[in-house]
Amino acid sequence: MDRDLAINLVRVTEAAALGCAKLMGRGDKISADQAAVNGMRSMFDTLDIDGTVVIGEGEKDEAPMLYIGEKIGKANKVSKKVDIAVDPLDGTTAVAKGLPNAISVVAMAPEGCLLHAPDMYMDKIAVGPKAAGKIDIEAPVELNLKILSEALNKSISDITVTMLDRPRHEKLIQKIRQAGARIKLFSDGDVAAAIATCFEDSGVDMLMGIGGAPEGVIAAAALKCMGGEFQGKLAPRNDEERERCKKMGIDDINKVLTMEDLAKGDEIYFAATGVSDGELLKGVVYYENNVAKTHSMVTRAKTGTIRFIEAIHKLDKKPEYAK
Ligand code: FBP
Repeated sequence: MDRDLAINLVRVTEAAALGCAKLMGRGDKISADQAAVNGMRSMFDTLDIDGTVVIGEGEKDEAPMLYIGEKIGKANKVSKKVDIAVDPLDGTTAVAKGLPNAISVVAMAPEGCLLHAPDMYMDKIAVGPKAAGKIDIEAPVELNLKILSEALNKSISDITVTMLDRPRHEKLIQKIRQAGARIKLFSDGDVAAAIATCFEDSGVDMLMGIGGAPEGVIAAAALKCMGGEFQGKLAPRNDEERERCKKMGIDDINKVLTMEDLAKGDEIYFAATGVSDGELLKGVVYYENNVAKTHSMVTRAKTGTIRFIEAIHKLDKKPEYAK
């Protein structure tokens, strides 16, 4: 795939972030999400791709744009067929409340290379490059912490595990506390948290716990590019969800989903733009004269290059974001 597509993907996440950031703190997560979707969808039309949304805003009857199966991009005869996984706003509640960690994200891979994950929960574990290939989602927490401590060459008491602040994590939290590691809970946005494990300065070493399965595929694509490791196990809550897994071709619900299962090969592209401030990406900042700054990252698995991009947007010249 054309490597310049990576830079164009940033335009897509920038458009989503600029679309929704003005709605921060308004207490309206639906409008914030819709604004991000609108921004992202319109920018996709400028990309030379023959794309199909495999992870998006829902099924066709429940989402008017970026629905699963929607064709996107201005394909020409030579455009490559690609799978697109989007989360125009990961952290809708965070934006509605003005809390940290909300980002706009896109992952792209050749057709058939991103898992079509059902919209349900997934148990997750993610670590940065030094511990890649060493952790195991099925191993006891204490063992993963020991392995991580050896890989990072620091004691367990210096390791920080991050996870969504949810009652379902009570037992996991207890085990981590007993093992002596630090814990950082966050209210929303586990894609950003998974990515943060790949950067030593982020202050978090491992993501654990249950979050959305679609977000899991996107996080796996990101970690593939950055040399980290992500593993997931679907966590259906009832027979209806178990049935949905089967309909989507996932027969063994208990299977450990490796990065190859979630994001196959090395032609993976990933881009993200901060909406509200996070460990890695600052949120959108507004300046005088209707100017806004965005903070983004883009990476692709083939080279592993990670680019951080700050962009100054003169919104007067982009009427779609003016108000
Ligand atoms: P939304 O932006 O769709 O609200 O998702 C935010 C998020 O925190 C994800 O990052 C995470 O995977 C999921 O919600 C967890 O779901 P729940 O809020 O039900 O625990």
